[in-house]
Amino acid sequence: MAENKNTGTEQGALWGGRFEGGVAEAMQSFGASLPVDNRLWKEDIQGSIAHAQMLGAQDIIPAADADKIVAGLESIAADIEAENWDFFDLADEDIHMNIERELTQRIGEAGGKLHTGRSRNDQVATDMRLYCKGECAELAAALNQLRATLIKKAEAHLTPGKETIMPGYTHLQKAQPVLFAHHLMAYQWMFARDCKRFMAAAEAADVLVLGSAALAGTTYALDRDAVATALGFASVSPNSLDAVSDRDFICDAVYASTLAMVHLSRLCEELILWSSDEFGFITLDDAYATGSSIMPQKKNPDFAELTRGKTGRVIGDLVGLLTTLKGLPLAYNKDLQEDKEGAFDAFDTLAVCLEAVCGMIDTMQVNAEAMAAGAQGGFMAATDLADYLVGKGVAFREAHEIVGRVVLSCEQAGRCLQDLSSAELAKIDEHFGDDALEVIDIRTVVAQRTTVGGTAPKRVAEQIAQAKKLLSADSS
Ligand code: ARG
Repeated sequence: MAENKNTGTEQGALWGGRFEGGVAEAMQSFGASLPVDNRLWKEDIQGSIAHAQMLGAQDIIPAADADKIVAGLESIAADIEAENWDFFDLADEDIHMNIERELTQRIGEAGGKLHTGRSRNDQVATDMRLYCKGECAELAAALNQLRATLIKKAEAHLTPGKETIMPGYTHLQKAQPVLFAHHLMAYQWMFARDCKRFMAAAEAADVLVLGSAALAGTTYALDRDAVATALGFASVSPNSLDAVSDRDFICDAVYASTLAMVHLSRLCEELILWSSDEFGFITLDDAYATGSSIMPQKKNPDFAELTRGKTGRVIGDLVGLLTTLKGLPLAYNKDLQEDKEGAFDAFDTLAVCLEAVCGMIDTMQVNAEAMAAGAQGGFMAATDLADYLVGKGVAFREAHEIVGRVVLSCEQAGRCLQDLSSAELAKIDEHFGDDALEVIDIRTVVAQRTTVGGTAPKRVAEQIAQAKKLLSADSS
């Protein structure tokens, strides 16, 4: 068994008074969250400054002490900003105690007044809310960047009369031709929804919980509205028990990250397929591909694959967080310290994957001929040929059957629909006239899909205009 070394109260734990001995050495690093939560230093100092100023203004502590605290916290912030982390010490357990101890070391006795009417329970929740608000705004902006890139690429392939056409798939079998711009825009809409989800998550985080203290509120005459205003929170939490236990806003932000990753993963899966020799629809830029250490000919879509792979981690982050929360009684429990690592990982992973995919889309070469050639095959105009017969008075079911026979005869002869002559068609069924060939032209097939949201060029142009409007509203 490991020796139970005591670290001793002389090391200065902030709860030292109640204890005769220190925590076992092995438990010190087990209990410490500093290596993870040190990234909250800015929010922690921001929250402490607002709290101290309010304590001073309410005469809960002398105004001169409040000023000293604020100046001390600012000097700590300046040091950390300058990358001087010398005072970070695992013995302090977390960022909150670390900064408070350092403050007292710098300004003396006044530092001990900062924690009046406050607990680490409302402090950490405040820090996380501030942090999540910032992350949500940044990730929404990165998503908007990707939306803009997709829109730009879609527009580049929408030149009238020369629109890039590709096969559309269901079951990964060729189904009907679609505009490449339409396909890109489908992803744009997913990322537009992701952006909304981050905005909603930021709103969920936008509540001041400081002033809830450990769990029940406090005896001091705190001015919570003033603190909310100082920290830019839209409202003040109405229930202190809920306030210190609630991590819903983190779940919201991590879920928004997870779904955005799932969308990126699906897009990456297509980029991987499209860049294969079998498809040949795109060529990734060298900046977004890697080679093989053994096979000289290889160009691998590593970053698309990594994005797809990292999606699993982020899904894990969400499941981990929800699982941590599911059994917790009110109010604060130390389990909640586990809310950070996965959330930070989800945000960081999404941020780097967004950058990767944005770059891939922006720089990839689109092989329009290969797409068009793919759109000719696979009898993708079959539905249009059936619709043509319906126009000639044939019932749809019968038309379906007739075109089925056309497809079969082509397949047996190794030909595609566009290879057929009108005489050959008329031989199969008398309803086929000379104009039947027009409807199987790939451009016609696409242009006919004019329902709102359809793939006809004018409809795609409309959705792009709509998407641009929404993007500019979301960006402001
Ligand atoms: N490091 C802790 C956390 O992240 C801060 C709150 C600790 N509160 C407590 N009563 N032990 O959750």
